Amino acid sequence: MSPFSLVGGVLHAEGVPLTRIAQTFGTPTWVYSRAAIEQAWDEFAAASAGRRALVCYAIKANSNLAILELLARRGCGFDIVSGGELARVLAAGADAKTVVFSGVGKTAAEMRDALQAGVRCFNVESESELDHLNAVAGSLQLKAPISLRVNPDVDAGTHPYISTGLRENKFGIAHERALAAYQHAASLPNLRIEGIDCHIGSQITELEPFLAALERVLELVDRLAAHGIDLHHLDLGGGLGISYQGESPPARGELLGALFTRVQGWASARGREMPELMFEFGRSMVGNAGLLLSRVEVLKENGDRHFAVVDAAMNDLMRPAMYEAWHDIVPVVARPSAPRTYDVVGPVCESGDWLGRSRELALAEGDLLAILSAGAYGMSMSSNYNSRPRGAEVMVDGDHMHLIRERERVQDLFAGEHTLPAE
Ligand code: LLP
Repeated sequence: MSPFSLVGGVLHAEGVPLTRIAQTFGTPTWVYSRAAIEQAWDEFAAASAGRRALVCYAIKANSNLAILELLARRGCGFDIVSGGELARVLAAGADAKTVVFSGVGKTAAEMRDALQAGVRCFNVESESELDHLNAVAGSLQLKAPISLRVNPDVDAGTHPYISTGLRENKFGIAHERALAAYQHAASLPNLRIEGIDCHIGSQITELEPFLAALERVLELVDRLAAHGIDLHHLDLGGGLGISYQGESPPARGELLGALFTRVQGWASARGREMPELMFEFGRSMVGNAGLLLSRVEVLKENGDRHFAVVDAAMNDLMRPAMYEAWHDIVPVVARPSAPRTYDVVGPVCESGDWLGRSRELALAEGDLLAILSAGAYGMSMSSNYNSRPRGAEVMVDGDHMHLIRERERVQDLFAGEHTLPAE
């Protein structure tokens, strides 16, 4: 069930009309449903109940502290990709033992902080990174727990910018280099081999690519075992898609069920213990739980095209400009007048600054619009381009609304800047 529905002709987030949110906090504002995030978590948790499993949230999707804290309290783990994300999860009260550190270019300082915090595992992406991590761990007299991210060369069937498991991508270690890389890791004194990981892309809407990647990983685990390298966990990444425009991705439980079943079959056939499974879901934890609330500033025509210029822009929600991504756009209060075909655009000085093209909408200036499925990779990818302060974030919980991030103030944008000394 959608957390956003029409009640008496007005779009609500759970029990709160979006008109009230706009009145109280202004626009543009990100609105999230607590119940929707909890439901996503509950589905992952139910599917892994009784299993050795750690479901992590890839916080790059939306790293607001309130969301992290909500998930940490429920036992969710976290997938991070920077020192900044490490600081966030720790500030939200996460146990470092539930944190995996991914990313293709970790700095020595980030490695040091994560080692000192005691993260669960470093997902290492190159042989060179093994050497760097070994050196940093040695200088701290610690052993770094590692997993190698292998690139299974599987086509996730998704947008090329968010596909990561192909040979041509920068991610992971090529399948055929994996054995040598593990042998190198085993020779380094300050590393402890824990597992293997892969992540083939994002917004995947079929089961098959996940299962194909799993087969490639299992093949490798067998090959490594034959060379005396035993792994305790398989981290199968994230990537589960959501519905933006009527897609029907596998249900969360269905995906996890299929993966557990396959690994169980593989383990039983070999008489070995079921390894722990780990996951790193971002979009499917929060994507459909959020929307971007915006107000129509100007309606204009250029030739035969109609434009609705709204107060949100590509700096707020970058996905349409960057991936030509589709987000449904709906009025908060429907008008009885006949719809027109609008391009919904922002005020930023770029032709790429659009949020939706050719949308049938009945609009007047001052109307509120909701840009849906914006809970993931929305606020977290936003910028201050055109010196635009980023919007507020509000979490709705039943009839209550909580401001979980204040709207940025213009003066904050240049607070750290300095002019040159007087001439
Ligand atoms: N693990 C790793 C190593 C990743 O690189 C990613 C996402 C995830 C987990 C989480 O994937 P998810 O479950 O969210 O699909 N900005 C793009 C998406 C980029 C995803 C990057 N990596 C977008 O707006 O579509």
